Amino acid sequence: MPWPVHRPRRLRDSQILWDLVRETKLSPFDLIYPIFVVSGQNKKIPIPSLPGQFHLSPDQAAELAQEFSQKGGRALLLFGLPDYKDETGSSGADPKGPVPLAIQAIKAKVPGLAVITDVCLCEYASHGHCGLVEGGRVKNDPTLPHLAEQALAHVRAGADMVAPSDMMDGRVGAIRRALDEAGFEDRPIMAYSVKYASCFYGPFRDAADSAPSFGDRRGYQMDPANRLEARLEVELDLAEGADIVMVKPAGPYLDIIREIRNLTDRPLAAYQVSGEMAMIKAAAAVGALDFKAAALESLVGVKRAGADLILTYLAPEVLPWL
Ligand code: PBG
Repeated sequence: MPWPVHRPRRLRDSQILWDLVRETKLSPFDLIYPIFVVSGQNKKIPIPSLPGQFHLSPDQAAELAQEFSQKGGRALLLFGLPDYKDETGSSGADPKGPVPLAIQAIKAKVPGLAVITDVCLCEYASHGHCGLVEGGRVKNDPTLPHLAEQALAHVRAGADMVAPSDMMDGRVGAIRRALDEAGFEDRPIMAYSVKYASCFYGPFRDAADSAPSFGDRRGYQMDPANRLEARLEVELDLAEGADIVMVKPAGPYLDIIREIRNLTDRPLAAYQVSGEMAMIKAAAAVGALDFKAAALESLVGVKRAGADLILTYLAPEVLPWL
């Protein structure tokens, strides 16, 4: 073969050729936008730890949902900040809580937008842990009915899908059974299957007021050093009936996204978490990175790694560029 027959640069010679042979394309259909809802009316309060994000009352959540949909957005993920917290996180299942009211307001205004809800105890429980606490320990099985009750409150209010993020063993099965028994066998579950005990959740815990009041989440979230365990978590969640599985965080765990992509043909989501966004925004603010280029490169990397869906706070900002 006379040298050089193959010159990869030939296909890099112009933007037209770049576009023609691009392997990974980001689309508005890929993105899910997480938002934070509170009770009350006419509230749109900037969240200091999450630049560009707000605490939204149900009416304002519906406003923002409409703007998002007009930009081509397809799906939201709702987090709730309740008015009261107790040991069992009972406000999470309150049909008059911020999440059910926001679901109804959004569905009334933008029926075509998919509304997914985060299901967990940490935002609703006084101790800030994702499960029930007894004697200073997070209990697994007693937590499950509380998660199921919260999921049920969300689908009763009209949620299209629920997304348990607590990492208790068996919660997908428990939620699946509860939804089926109540006649919601048609509502899918997106499981936070592979959720690491990550420092990159820092800004979120301020935004959701959900930092644990003692200890940390290492008793239920995964060791960042573990890859094989991710396979087990996904296999268990799929066996329990998960419809979509998720890896979280995204950017520092691209190898795990690929690992799970190769393990299952089911839809795979990845969560670009608060700290990942904070890094990009902070670097852009000091002029170290170009915001648009960094945002798009970070997201295309997650998709290239194998994610079908990306949960990202950057969704409304990147939509106009897709
Ligand atoms: C609650 C939950 C967390 C996130 C999503 N759901 C925080 C945590 O586990 O402490 C993190 C989201 C983010 O950092 O953007 N279980």
